[in-house]
Amino acid sequence: MTSVIPVITVDGPSGSGKGTLAVRLAQHFGWHQLDSGALYRILAEKARIDNVDLGDVPALVVLAEVLEVRFDEGLVWLDNRDVTDEIRSETVGAAASKVAALGPVREAIVGLQHSFRQAPGLVADGRDMGTVIFPDAVVKIFLEASARVRAERRYNQLKNNGLGVSLRALLETIEQRDERDRERAVSPLRPASDAVVIDSSSMSIDEVFKHVVALVAERLA
Ligand code: C5P
Repeated sequence: MTSVIPVITVDGPSGSGKGTLAVRLAQHFGWHQLDSGALYRILAEKARIDNVDLGDVPALVVLAEVLEVRFDEGLVWLDNRDVTDEIRSETVGAAASKVAALGPVREAIVGLQHSFRQAPGLVADGRDMGTVIFPDAVVKIFLEASARVRAERRYNQLKNNGLGVSLRALLETIEQRDERDRERAVSPLRPASDAVVIDSSSMSIDEVFKHVVALVAERLA
């Protein structure tokens, strides 16, 4: 029975720190992890490789239904090829958010997302984990941060990796992506009515982590 397996959902805009938080929570509790954004990124990358137009909904649905994806010790595999780094680019992120705005495509990967719910528990991060995919989650976190703070975090991350980008261009990309994610008709980015909203603009990831661990301990007690 999957219904008794506990799920923690972490939703929020890109750069809010939800991915890092989800990894740490999954490690702390020894639970499985679902990075749902990676699924949309992989799908967008698969469409690029197979020359499928991002406007061709039926073809994208077919791709989504047979997506060969594997997460293994921090690595992401598509068709048995390591795509961990290539799916992290801003270009793939922007394509992912276009693909993710299509209702039939979202429906096509619901089953895949549910299949990650395995004992002893799951930490799932994304945009609609608490609202649509795992509405019965035991704890739902909605992690926010101002667009400026998120752009700066991304800028420093890229700089540390030796990649030069303009902060202004990053801020623009983030704002455009946020708008598309929040304004779309299907599964828009918004906190579930029973989510705990945390603004991480002036908090360290450590502070956020400790706060959430305490919350989960309280709910599971
Ligand atoms: O979280 P990440 O930046 O990797 O997600 C890439 C894109 O996938 C997001 O901009 C969003 O449009 C989409 N996404 C989504 N629903 C999710 C996770 C990601 O629509 N649950």
